[in-house]
Amino acid sequence: MAMKLTKGPVQLNGACQVPGDKSISHRAVMFGALAKGRTVARHFLFSADCLATIGAFEKLGVTISRDETSVTIEGVGFHGFKPAKQSLDMGNSGTSTRLLLGLLAKQPFPMRFIGDASLSQRPMGRVLAPLTQMGAQMTATAGHLPIEVASNTHLQAIDYQLPVASAQVKSALIFAALQADGPSTLTEKLATRDHTERMLRLFGGDIQQKGLALKIKPQTNLTGQTFTIPGDPSSAAFFIAAATLLPNSEVILLNVGLNQTRIGFLEVLGQMQSDIQVIQADSGFEPTGTLKIKSASLQAMHITADMIPSIIDELPLVALCATQAEGVTTISGAAELRVKETDRIATVTAELRKMGAHIEEKPDGMVITGPTPLHAVNAQLDSHGDHRIAMMLMVAALLSKDQFTLENADAVAVSYPKFYEDLLGLVN
Ligand code: S3P
Repeated sequence: MAMKLTKGPVQLNGACQVPGDKSISHRAVMFGALAKGRTVARHFLFSADCLATIGAFEKLGVTISRDETSVTIEGVGFHGFKPAKQSLDMGNSGTSTRLLLGLLAKQPFPMRFIGDASLSQRPMGRVLAPLTQMGAQMTATAGHLPIEVASNTHLQAIDYQLPVASAQVKSALIFAALQADGPSTLTEKLATRDHTERMLRLFGGDIQQKGLALKIKPQTNLTGQTFTIPGDPSSAAFFIAAATLLPNSEVILLNVGLNQTRIGFLEVLGQMQSDIQVIQADSGFEPTGTLKIKSASLQAMHITADMIPSIIDELPLVALCATQAEGVTTISGAAELRVKETDRIATVTAELRKMGAHIEEKPDGMVITGPTPLHAVNAQLDSHGDHRIAMMLMVAALLSKDQFTLENADAVAVSYPKFYEDLLGLVN
């Protein structure tokens, strides 16, 4: 679907609550299904990715119901799944695929995982290698989907150093380790988002952390829970960037997840001289808070490998912010961007260049020189089917006096179906 984007200059004012966190919504359904008893997750994200997770469990015999904002899962326990009559369709969702491969690595029936064209290009060897080492029987097609999972009744414990900083790989292995024949140790290179660890504890499980090492003992006695999912900081980031970059803006964002492993974007913008305040903070199984964002003039900065995991999904927006910042911003150590929903180094560079941005592509990042007024070098933008690229380009268009159209604008359905509506609701 092609869409005409709203052009600038506009200012943003008002308050908004972004939808529930995508990573946490996936995990709510997963732990809800594995637990005994009922789980109710409020402020659940009903987006295409999370619906892929729900759809997979429904095919495995789990009863899941929903109302406007919450999802209810009748847990079946680790041994209560039924053989699926059809392939498990992961759609566009890397999180569903990788986490479910670990979660379902020990089931006494075979399964087939499939996905859309983008997901079928993404690397799965990173989960298949350690899961196979644990005894899972999985056959991929040159390291990609479709994947055949054979019936399996035994998983060995593992002591594993994760070669890539990936919460998806870590989480897949945590799910498998819960079902292994002894205690497992997983050691990360860099700390990645810890939603799986937090939710395991919420459901009554135990996981020990020492620095970057996690110790997981076998345990299959989880109990259903009722909880509220925080607003997704990765969705909030589009509003934060827009309010920062559009002059005379002031926006309040309610109930945003402020988990330390997810706030890299706030930290980077802080270093770039943004004006963002946490005006109220709450602690729960996940920390949350209310943010007040005012317009600011940004300064360039250097973003290095150690900062990447906490900002991985926000890097397209960092690039946009850098086009408006004074000086040369560098992003390095971010080669993982090349294996996201699109090659985000290539798509960000190509699309922002159509708007006149000065961006140089590097194998593991970008070099961006600002500030540059955005204008139509080529007014036909394209999300390439990538939700985060679509949303970043929508924000970019609000900064420009020119009229742009966006091809594949409907990609936002993957993580934020009402994004355009919510953002335009703040435009004055
Ligand atoms: C996610 C982890 C990240 C992130 C993705 C969601 C998760 O992927 O990019 O959007 O929910 O665990 P990687 O772990 O592969 O970096």
